[in-house]
Amino acid sequence: MREKLVVGNWKMHGNLTENKQLLSAINASLDGLHGAQFAVCVPYPYLPSVQNTLQNTNISWGAQNVSQYEKGAYTGEVSVSMLIDFGCTYVIVGHSERRTLFGEDNHSIAEKYAATQQAGLMPILCVGETLEQREAGATEQIIQEQLMAVVNVAGIESFSKAVIAYEPVWAIGTGKTASPQQAQSVHAFIRNGIAIQNVNLANELTILYGGSVKANNASELFAMPDIDGGLIGGASLVANDFITICRALNN
Ligand code: PGA
Repeated sequence: MREKLVVGNWKMHGNLTENKQLLSAINASLDGLHGAQFAVCVPYPYLPSVQNTLQNTNISWGAQNVSQYEKGAYTGEVSVSMLIDFGCTYVIVGHSERRTLFGEDNHSIAEKYAATQQAGLMPILCVGETLEQREAGATEQIIQEQLMAVVNVAGIESFSKAVIAYEPVWAIGTGKTASPQQAQSVHAFIRNGIAIQNVNLANELTILYGGSVKANNASELFAMPDIDGGLIGGASLVANDFITICRALNN
C-alpha cells in the first residue's frame, strides 16, 4: 500500500507566535490519526522551533528548498546536512515559484533532488505545466521533461524514496483548482510512465496534487485513484482548513 500524505507549504509566511498557535491547533486535532502522514514545510529560520513543537507528534516537518551543494562558498544557501540537524524529513524541490521566480531549471532541480535523497531525506519533486503549455496541448511533454531530468541524474529507482507533487502552475494560489478528472489524468500519466519501467515502483509511489486545494474540494480530489494526497499552500496557514484537508485524506 502506498502512503497517503498531506504536506503544508507555508511559503514565506509566519512568525514565531503565529506558527506556535497554528501548530498547536493542528496537532491537537490530528493527534491519533494514523490513516495518512502529515507534514509542514516551513521557512528555514523556523526549523528549530517547529522541531521543538512537533517532535513526538505524528506531524513531520521539512524545508521548501535546499542547496545542491554539500558545503562551501555558497553565500545564502542551506545544505541538506543542515536540514538533517533540525530533524527534517521532507524537502520540497523544484516548486514552480523556484522555477519561475528564482531561475531554477530542470538540471539544478535534479541535482537538488539527488543531494536530498543521497543524504537520506525525502524530496517532494514538484512538476507542472503553465496555462500556456496546457492550452498548447504540451502538458504531458512538459511533465515528462521535468521527470526525465531527474531520472537522468538520479535514476528511475530513485522514485522509491521520493514523493512527486503534480502542481499545475495555473492552479497555484489562483483559486482555480484542476478538476478531479484533470488532475487524475496527469497523475495517471505520471504513474503509467514509471510503470513502463517498474510496475512495483509506480504502484508504491505517492503522487500529491497541489494547486488551490481547499477544505471544500479536498475530498473529491483525494477520491481519485491516483491522487495520494496534497501539497497545500494557502489553506495550510489556516488551522481549520488544513485540519479538514488532512482529515479528508485520513478517512
Ligand atoms: P496553493 O499553493 O494551495 O496556495 O495553491 C500550493 C503550492 O504552491 O504548493
